[in-house]
Amino acid sequence: MKDQLEALRPQAAARISEAADTAALDAVRVAYLGKKGALTAILKQMGGLSAEERPVIGQLANELRGSLEAMLQERGEQLKAEEVAARLGRETLDITMPGTARPLGHKHPLTIVLDEVKEIFLGMGFSVATGPEVENEYYNFTALNIPEGHSARDEQDTFYTTEGLVLRTATSPVQVRYMERHKPPIRIIAPGRVYRQDTPDATHSPLFHQIEGLVVDEGVTMGHLKATLDQLAKGLFGESTRTRFRPHYFPFTEPSAEVDVSCFRCGGAGCPFCKGEGWVEILGAGMVHPNVLRNGGIDPEKYSGFAFGVGLDRLTLARFRIDDIRLLFENDLRFLGQF
Ligand code: PHE
Repeated sequence: MKDQLEALRPQAAARISEAADTAALDAVRVAYLGKKGALTAILKQMGGLSAEERPVIGQLANELRGSLEAMLQERGEQLKAEEVAARLGRETLDITMPGTARPLGHKHPLTIVLDEVKEIFLGMGFSVATGPEVENEYYNFTALNIPEGHSARDEQDTFYTTEGLVLRTATSPVQVRYMERHKPPIRIIAPGRVYRQDTPDATHSPLFHQIEGLVVDEGVTMGHLKATLDQLAKGLFGESTRTRFRPHYFPFTEPSAEVDVSCFRCGGAGCPFCKGEGWVEILGAGMVHPNVLRNGGIDPEKYSGFAFGVGLDRLTLARFRIDDIRLLFENDLRFLGQF
């Protein structure tokens, strides 16, 4: 019996150290120390021992139980620690894994060019003004010296809404609105959407964008207008860019001009982009008509001013060499993603 007990120790020790997890270790505990376990089975035979043998075997059995329990305990703690470590390993965030990328938006090409234009004018001491897109006929036409019956009022060109209201056909109505509320010196640009009845094609859109400019002060001349627009052209298209003023007619400026810049593609030599001209038209301008100053509450005997209206869409097409204005309004991300 003593031999039986002695044999249990290495056997149990081997199985304990081999147990791969806490469940397996529990099975080993039951197999040796449980009610039907190997040690219990041996102890049940103690009744057949002599009085001398019984305490000796009893002590041996207790000692064996104690040492098995100690081994089970130690291995149990070891296994538990391994299992925790394994779980932490599984649950750890792997910071070397690539993240889920979120697509990042960016400015629309019209906004990119508008911001450049603003930057150029802010540098010359201008501030930015705005006016309503739904305008009344007074500010859109009458105040700008566009009389009843003028072709600019044509229903074919203009979106009339209810009585007396129109979707503004230019940013020019901001001129008189601003003069009514501000005394000279005035130096503003007024960017925004404008509307005209046009069938969309590569160069026309019923909605487009202008940037109005207005300067009013004592002694303002055409020279100031030319220098200012030169500055704009150079700022946008490079120092070597030249401007050209062609006489034109607008009811609200006198004299008036259409302004071209030397072609930014061919430098003025003539190419398909400028249709062989060497020049590209970008804006209308002129000296503010005395009637318009008066409508704004400003004395034309004391003050003079200049105004201009730039086509932002056209600038943007030119700047990025886009050949169809509709691309600016279709919101196709494959197109917009290129800027
Ligand atoms: N309003 C004119 C247009 O839309 C542009 C312009 C503005 C011309 C200011 C002269 C002065 O064509």
